Amino acid sequence: MRLLAIAGSPRRGGNTDSLLEQFIKGAVYAGAEAKTLVVCSLKIEGCRNCDGCLVKGQCIVQDDMQMVYKEMEAADRLVIASPLQFMSVSAQLKALIDRCQALWVRKYVLKIPPLGDARMRKGFFISVGGRHNLPTLFEAELVTIKSLFKTLDINYSGDLLIPEIDAKDAILHKPETLQKAYQEGCRFITNS
Ligand SMILES: Cc1cc2nc3c(=O)[nH]c(=O)nc-3n(C[C@H](O)[C@H](O)[C@H](O)COP(=O)(O)O)c2cc1C
Repeated sequence: MRLLAIAGSPRRGGNTDSLLEQFIKGAVYAGAEAKTLVVCSLKIEGCRNCDGCLVKGQCIVQDDMQMVYKEMEAADRLVIASPLQFMSVSAQLKALIDRCQALWVRKYVLKIPPLGDARMRKGFFISVGGRHNLPTLFEAELVTIKSLFKTLDINYSGDLLIPEIDAKDAILHKPETLQKAYQEGCRFITNS
């Protein structure tokens, strides 16, 4: 079972990274083979809306996103993690998501599997936000992530959304939340 983890925070070693690390540990304990991509260390342009992908469902922009497409195609399970930024995902992660327009073209224009084959894939989302818990806090972000998973034919399996986490090490003072991330990672693989 190949797990691809997409770390979307620009703050390395912060709250999102800590939760994702625990999630991956749990998943690996449950038998997954995990690979992590740190989005802010990759060179990923935003989508140019050039329509270059309309021919074959392949993006013509030659940057690190070409490697990301391959990793997504190879994965059975995908976990995406991002801090809440202006009520959405980080800008770095949003660029990656927008570049999935080429995969949208595969599915909706070319009518071919967006990730190359029809295997059953599952996805999980992790996020933290600094503000106190409002019912709508993670709403906009979830619309974006669920729309991505739907486009990629990935079944949305669950999420871990943690409010009131702001300072870089705030999550380290919540061992029960880190433990929950570990358990969710474990469950994400064993329930598959
Ligand atoms: C540019 C920016 C925008 C942010 N926007 C929000 C927001 O809309 N809502 C919120 O609750 N927290 C917001 N935050 C706070 C972060 O979500 C919070 O600090 C989080 O713990 C950062 O996670 P990290 O340590 O993984 O980077 C924002 C932070 C930054 C830097």
